Amino acid sequence: MATRACVLLWLSVSGAVAQHGTSTASGASASTTASATATLVPTNGAVPLFHYEEQQLTTASLSDLSDTEAALFSFDSINVTSENTTSYVNYTLASSGDCKIFPGDSAWPALSAWKVLDTLAGGALVKTVPAASVCYFNGTSKHNDTACRALTSNWTDSYSHLEDPVEMLSPVYQGLTCQPPSLYNSGNCTLGGYPVYATNVSNVAQIQAAVNFARNTGIRLVIKNTGHDFSGKSGGAGSLSIFTHNLKDIDYIPSYNDATTNYSGPAFKAGAGVQAYEIYAAARDEGLVVVGGEGQTVGVMGGYIQGGGHSPLSSIHGMAADQVLNFEVVTADGRFTTGNAQKNSDLFWALRGGGGSTFGIVTSVVVKAYPDMQVTTSTFSFTSASVSQDTFWAGVRAYFSYFPTNADAGTYSYFFILPSVPSAGEFEFLMQPFFAPNKTLNETQALLQPWFSELSALGISISPKTQHFSSFWDAWNASFPLEAVEKTHVASASRLWPRRNWDNSTILNSTFEAIKANSEAGLTIIAFNQAPTWANGGYQDNSVNPAWRETICHMLTSVNWLNNSTTSEILTARHNFTFGYMQRWRDLSPGAGSYLGESDRLEPDFQWAFYGSFYPRLLALKKQYDPRNLLWAATAVGSEFFEVQSVDGLPNENGRLCTKTDPSLYVAQGPDWVPS
Ligand SMILES: Cc1cc2nc3c(=O)[nH]c(=O)nc-3n(C[C@H](O)[C@H](O)[C@H](O)COP(=O)(O)OP(=O)(O)OC[C@H]3O[C@@H](n4cnc5c(N)ncnc54)[C@H](O)[C@@H]3O)c2cc1C
Ligand SMILES: *[C@@H]1O[C@H](CO)[C@@H](O)[C@H](O)[C@H]1NC(C)=O
Ligand SMILES: *[C@@H]1O[C@H](CO)[C@@H](O)[C@H](O)[C@H]1NC(C)=O
Ligand SMILES: *[C@@H]1O[C@H](CO)[C@@H](O)[C@H](O)[C@H]1NC(C)=O
Ligand SMILES: *[C@@H]1O[C@H](CO)[C@@H](O)[C@H](O)[C@H]1NC(C)=O
Ligand SMILES: *[C@@H]1O[C@H](CO)[C@@H](O)[C@H](O)[C@H]1NC(C)=O
Ligand SMILES: *[C@@H]1O[C@H](CO)[C@@H](O)[C@H](O)[C@H]1NC(C)=O
Ligand SMILES: *[C@@H]1O[C@H](CO)[C@@H](O)[C@H](O)[C@H]1NC(C)=O
Ligand SMILES: *[C@@H]1O[C@H](CO)[C@@H](O)[C@H](O)[C@H]1NC(C)=O
Ligand SMILES: *[C@@H]1O[C@H](CO)[C@@H](O)[C@H](O)[C@H]1NC(C)=O
Ligand SMILES: *[C@@H]1O[C@H](CO)[C@@H](O)[C@H](O)[C@H]1NC(C)=O
Ligand SMILES: *[C@@H]1O[C@H](CO)[C@@H](O)[C@H](O)[C@H]1NC(C)=O
Ligand SMILES: *[C@@H]1O[C@H](CO)[C@@H](O)[C@H](O)[C@H]1NC(C)=O
Repeated sequence: MATRACVLLWLSVSGAVAQHGTSTASGASASTTASATATLVPTNGAVPLFHYEEQQLTTASLSDLSDTEAALFSFDSINVTSENTTSYVNYTLASSGDCKIFPGDSAWPALSAWKVLDTLAGGALVKTVPAASVCYFNGTSKHNDTACRALTSNWTDSYSHLEDPVEMLSPVYQGLTCQPPSLYNSGNCTLGGYPVYATNVSNVAQIQAAVNFARNTGIRLVIKNTGHDFSGKSGGAGSLSIFTHNLKDIDYIPSYNDATTNYSGPAFKAGAGVQAYEIYAAARDEGLVVVGGEGQTVGVMGGYIQGGGHSPLSSIHGMAADQVLNFEVVTADGRFTTGNAQKNSDLFWALRGGGGSTFGIVTSVVVKAYPDMQVTTSTFSFTSASVSQDTFWAGVRAYFSYFPTNADAGTYSYFFILPSVPSAGEFEFLMQPFFAPNKTLNETQALLQPWFSELSALGISISPKTQHFSSFWDAWNASFPLEAVEKTHVASASRLWPRRNWDNSTILNSTFEAIKANSEAGLTIIAFNQAPTWANGGYQDNSVNPAWRETICHMLTSVNWLNNSTTSEILTARHNFTFGYMQRWRDLSPGAGSYLGESDRLEPDFQWAFYGSFYPRLLALKKQYDPRNLLWAATAVGSEFFEVQSVDGLPNENGRLCTKTDPSLYVAQGPDWVPS
């Protein structure tokens, strides 16, 4: 990761035109003039490009190719930033039942075509070999016991999956066709929902080449950053993938002035592959903080920020998407452009909350930064083993009453309710941690004391480890666990519980009973008490699900089945979960929503749940910026027109992407009940 201080002072960005035209470089081998910050004049405040963003594909880059080869990489005749394409292009170009070109189809690109792509991309094309293939026989490739054992022992470590161009953290959505056999029996090792090829990109020209190639050949295109997505949206059978993980540049901008959004202060420009721990460290080194996830390895400049992004700092500064000042992006027509408050402001609006893999491939993001701050954290747990179950639940219920107070005080909590010994009917409450940014030890203790007194009165004893840290980094680094890769037999769903459920104790009690019911049914609960409201300074005019502004608790719940469950058993478990337990939660929070970034792939009425009242505008922008539906991801804006026809009938990426046959499924239903 390169961190370079940018010494330029930018003027207002009003009327900004980014200087994209200065480079004619193409491909990885092409040279550019010099570093972005050194050569680009920040005309009217336009953000200088990273070196890798100056390396762009142009029509001239294709001059060495034959006409047939060049045609594979030509830009779209439609220029999506200059034309309103919705008026004359049908979004679903394929007729009903038609599918994206798939391996084995006569139209699938010949090996020679892939070789041209690889050459143009400077050798960045990678043919997919599933990591666990070392555990299997496949033709001449042999089972390698040493390699298989090493892989298996580290399989649940998320770092090993992040570095790989195709692996994902929720392998259940790959179709589980090549797992380490001692962890999950895949039978044979096949490609399943893995892309066929990935482009390990290090510049914009490679992204443009892959985008044009996929659009011109009619194959599926996907984007993988870290593979964190809960619904496996970085995968897709028969696809070409753009792997953005290695776009790691970070520039510090001491003084950024944006007249339109009224922001004047420090900022960072970060590459699309920058992860939480990397941007947090860069900010720490400047005595600053940025809004990022609690998870160490989340791709904060990729799918996280485009899907909203909640943070330990959200109750103070709002959502991550609220912090964005500028995007650089390759759109579906293959062109490289800028989205900010002046330029392509509608695209800028959609990219700040409307979801990844929808409006283009983001190459870098500029985000606001704030002064570093002290943080106090507290970690503790209690179980039902030493008290009665009723007492355990009374202790948890007591906590719920403090959600509004704690969120309004700017805190964020990360807590679990787990069936600790399910057969014995025991439960565990785990606070891991209560995170109080900008609070002294005493202030934090004062905030927690009323609940702790109630616990004590109930006879529940806890041993809180409450610690004060002088910086955000130290507190974050010490507090949050590194989550593991093990989603082979689990599905999750989220509810953004609205604050209004806390205003009426009858409704709050019903809410609590519904949550308790999930726990008693053996479902795990992981929740975040936080309030990224409009009032806390975080609000921007962006596309973040409006339900986020009204929530005081984003609650995840998950269902498990057995590794050897049959397809119909899995479907039954998922159906009962999504339409049973989760329906009870929805019924208790009519009109509220669910968090796109940590969601149920089967979420009913997903348009409302993930995007709320912004859906119609987002869909119109999807049709404008991606008129040929190049980018598709499950539950993304516009995804309702297509479906993956999975080979096993389960909701996953292991199958062809085809036009939906039943047009009635296209219709966004809207909420049953809209809050007044
Ligand atoms: C362990 C763990 C911890 C998490 N912690 C948090 C948290 O603290 N807060 C929170 O809000 N969420 C959290 N999440 C959820 C996370 O924000 C989402 O899964 C998010 O989509 C991850 O984005 P990614 O780019 O890292 O992952 P990916 O799975 O690689 O990408 C997610 C989606 O975005 C698309 N995408 C990625 N990069 C780009 C790009 N440059 N341009 C366009 N589209 C792109 C992908 O195609 C995919 O559809 C967590 C998830 C996990 C598994
Ligand atoms: C596409 O349209 C934008 C906006 O009008 C324009 O700036 C750009 O030059 C156009 N690109 C091409 C290749 O025509
Ligand atoms: C594009 O045109 C359609 C149909 O005329 C209209 O509904 C939509 O609002 C327009 N979109 C933009 C961004 O102008
Ligand atoms: C779009 O679809 C409509 C209805 O299916 C059809 O009548 C029309 O000709 C199509 N337009 C184009 C440009 O393909
Ligand atoms: C098996 O894997 C090990 C460890 O990755 C490697 O060193 C070795 O060369 C491999 N053996 C064969 C025959 O490929
Ligand atoms: C597992 O990963 C860790 C670090 O990620 C590494 O140090 C260790 O050698 C790996 N173990 C094996 C068996 O490969
Ligand atoms: C694995 O592949 C072989 C050869 O194609 C086939 O005979 C066998 O049934 C497959 N096994 C499983 C579990 O799918
Ligand atoms: C197995 O080998 C075949 C033929 O060599 C190849 O096409 C296929 O991609 C391989 N499968 C995996 C999972 O590597
Ligand atoms: C931090 O707390 C101080 C003192 O209470 C307050 O003045 C300041 O505004 C707070 N900072 C943030 C970012 O909330
Ligand atoms: C913190 O609280 C303790 C007792 O509650 C008090 O003695 C101490 O002075 C307080 N410290 C500060 C810095 O306020
Ligand atoms: C609280 O909600 C219940 C159930 O919806 C309702 O009957 C009652 O009138 C509400 N109470 C208040 C004070 O609004
Ligand atoms: C809600 O539950 C609490 C705690 O169990 C109880 O004290 C209170 O009376 C209940 N409120 C209503 C309106 O039922
Ligand atoms: C499935 O796995 C469970 C738990 O490991 C085991 O008890 C059960 O016998 C298995 N069922 C079958 C049909 O293999």
